[in-house]
Amino acid sequence: MSSSSCMDSLSLLVVSAFLLFPTALFQLSNGGVTSSFIRKSEPSVDMPFDADVFQPPPGYNAPQQVRIMQGDHEGKAVIVSWVTPSEPGPRIVFYGMAEEKRRYKAHASSVTTYRFFDYSSGFIHHCLLKNLEHDTEYFYQIGIGESSRQFSFKTPPAVGPDVPYTFGIIGDLGQTYDSNETLSHYLANQRGQAVLFVGDLSYADDHPNHDNRRWDTFGRMIERSIAYQPWITTAGNHEIDFAPEIGEVAPFKPYKRRYRVPYKASQSTSPLWYSVKRASAYIIALSSYSAYGKYTPQYQWLQNELPKVNRTETPWLIVLVHSPLYNSYNYHYMEGETMRVQFESWFVEYKVDLVLSGHVHAYERSERVSNIAYNITNNDATPIPDPSAPVYITIGDGGNIEGLATNFTEPQPSYSAYREASFGHAILDIKNRTHAYYAWYRNHDGNAVLGDSVCFYNRYWGSNER
Ligand SMILES: *[C@@H]1O[C@H](CO)[C@@H](O)[C@H](O)[C@H]1NC(C)=O
Ligand SMILES: *[C@@H]1O[C@H](CO)[C@@H](O)[C@H](O)[C@H]1NC(C)=O
Ligand SMILES: *[C@@H]1O[C@H](CO)[C@@H](O)[C@H](O)[C@H]1NC(C)=O
Ligand SMILES: *[C@@H]1O[C@H](CO)[C@@H](O)[C@H](O)[C@H]1NC(C)=O
Ligand SMILES: *[C@@H]1O[C@H](CO)[C@@H](O)[C@H](O)[C@H]1NC(C)=O
Ligand SMILES: [Fe+2]
Repeated sequence: MSSSSCMDSLSLLVVSAFLLFPTALFQLSNGGVTSSFIRKSEPSVDMPFDADVFQPPPGYNAPQQVRIMQGDHEGKAVIVSWVTPSEPGPRIVFYGMAEEKRRYKAHASSVTTYRFFDYSSGFIHHCLLKNLEHDTEYFYQIGIGESSRQFSFKTPPAVGPDVPYTFGIIGDLGQTYDSNETLSHYLANQRGQAVLFVGDLSYADDHPNHDNRRWDTFGRMIERSIAYQPWITTAGNHEIDFAPEIGEVAPFKPYKRRYRVPYKASQSTSPLWYSVKRASAYIIALSSYSAYGKYTPQYQWLQNELPKVNRTETPWLIVLVHSPLYNSYNYHYMEGETMRVQFESWFVEYKVDLVLSGHVHAYERSERVSNIAYNITNNDATPIPDPSAPVYITIGDGGNIEGLATNFTEPQPSYSAYREASFGHAILDIKNRTHAYYAWYRNHDGNAVLGDSVCFYNRYWGSNER
């Protein structure tokens, strides 16, 4: 398939979607499209502890749940994390390029454990690999000897305005058979170079006493992706793990212990909100479940952060936040409203390209709209088309234990361009400073099938084409 231009590949993909889906029906309303695709409705259950994807690697105390996260602001560092079940260590990571795979070594600067009610974690290691070359494949090995394990990753190209880069987008993943399918489809797609993860990881908290063994099984399940490419994460409500009834009163404890993000590199004071640059994108992760009212730390940080984004360097400005600001399902309806009131005018002022959210277990893409004119007395409280506004995407459709959101508000509101109650993942393929190609794939009978695709024109560099 030609990818010479955004429009060519878009129309080809739309044609192929109809060829694959001759019977797909679409309902048009005063808003956009509501897909009437009905997936087989199976119960959503977490895979059992003995599922293949949950099995620890062989060998005494072998490092498991291996993952990498971006380790600095520019993409020249990586945080490698792993868990060992029986004792602390190995603490050492050997790494290098193809010619000399063990040329360098780094030590885990932190080895911790935590307790959650009656659960005791394994030994959680975090190790920073820094001063990496851009656009280079690195091999890394954790430990020495029989139980050591080897992986590889590729660093992003140097930050720049026309650097092509392809992100996967996944949300609300969980650890059901559907979750495994979503992850398998993302991997089979083979195009994503890093994942934008919009919150709600393991869903351990849906089990009695937030059974934290489910954080471990989840970590082992996703290793086949996250050990090889970073996931840029934001926290969802299932990361809060606040359970005063069993004495657990420190919000986000398991998430913060296990997932390390480079928040200090963006002058943030909390891992729950931070930014990174990657290739031609500037990514801001926000927390729906931390204070964001005026004067709060998160508000102040974002207020200082947005003017720092240099669109000549990173044209694509992307916000990750768990709870959607525009949602037309009868699930979590208006939960993102307070953040919309607080931050939407900034998103428009700074011409944010995309706001990616999860939380609602389905898929939806908005029109470019804003709703920022209201001032209590003027009645101007209706979303209106706005070329400076972001597109809002809800992609909480990873396939978790809570099942699919299938109940739409009717009629489809004018801000909603496309909505469909299916599990899946998306690919954001940035071509250059003006064009990005975006496609969402539904999980369908074992295959990934294109469900929605669109060409995004950059809000700063592009024309006002939609
Ligand atoms: C940007 O990419 C699009 C889609 O591939 C292409 O049509 C356009 O010519 C490119 N623009 C520049 C300035 O290279
Ligand atoms: C999960 O997906 C992988 C890759 O498709 C497959 O090998 C594995 O058997 C699946 N596991 C379960 C429990 O479905
Ligand atoms: C923005 O980035 C460009 C390209 O890297 C650079 O030339 C320019 O000086 C930067 N602008 C500011 C205000 O830092
Ligand atoms: C609210 O908007 C109305 C209509 O635009 C305007 O007349 C009024 O002065 C505004 N009120 C405030 C407090 O800004
Ligand atoms: C859908 O949600 C609405 C509003 O909460 C509710 O009144 C309705 O009964 C729901 N429909 C179904 C089929 O669950
Ligand atoms: Fe959620």
